[in-house]
Amino acid sequence: MRFQVFTLTTLLTLSAMAADNNATQPLTVKQEGVKYIKMLGGALKTELKAHMKKDPSGLEALAFCTGSADKITKEVNTKLPAYAKVRRTAFKVRNESVNTPDATDEKVMKAYEEAIAAKTFSPKDIKVVEEGNVTRVYKPLITKPVCLKCHGSDLNPKIADAIKSAYPQDKATGFKEGDLRGVIVSEIKKH
Ligand code: HEC
Repeated sequence: MRFQVFTLTTLLTLSAMAADNNATQPLTVKQEGVKYIKMLGGALKTELKAHMKKDPSGLEALAFCTGSADKITKEVNTKLPAYAKVRRTAFKVRNESVNTPDATDEKVMKAYEEAIAAKTFSPKDIKVVEEGNVTRVYKPLITKPVCLKCHGSDLNPKIADAIKSAYPQDKATGFKEGDLRGVIVSEIKKH
């Protein structure tokens, strides 16, 4: 009995110490970038899921993404510290006005695509790139079956029409499950 009490107290003390550690240790730049990536990824995913459930054809979700993906991105950015940003990009973009990649994005995405081709890819492969006074943190976005409704090859004609009218320059179709769809990138200025 005495042993059990000791064990319980020890466990409680250890878990309290662990919680304390989490609270006081500052995040590394990588962890901070991942946090912002999850804020954007999570916000978009929650909305996409809810809208796909309401209308499994994807039409309603498409209307939602067309009207709100960029707005949600801007909203998430207003919640970040002034030295940080988060956005999405891809080689083949749908919304070229806000999601066009730069040379660094392309280099990182090329590395992901090469790893996918070589079968050495892990979706947990977060890449950190230092560039002057900015650190970029990248997370790959892999094409899942649900993504194919709006980014695949065999689109419902109504979806295809709606995409064409909202994004006449759309390049973001023709993806297969397992392809790199794009990345989420957080940029953190030294501060
Ligand atoms: C219901 C339709 C729909 C589905 C399903 C969908 N997307 Fe999209 N996606 C869009 C639209 C519309 C845009 C353009 C949003 C904008 O205007 O910013 C977009 C943009 C993107 C972008 C930003 C780059 C670009 O092309 O502009 C990425 C990355 C992306 N989608 C990844 C995914 C992934 C990964 C999935 C599956 C988990 C997915 N999408 C599922 C409609 C969809």
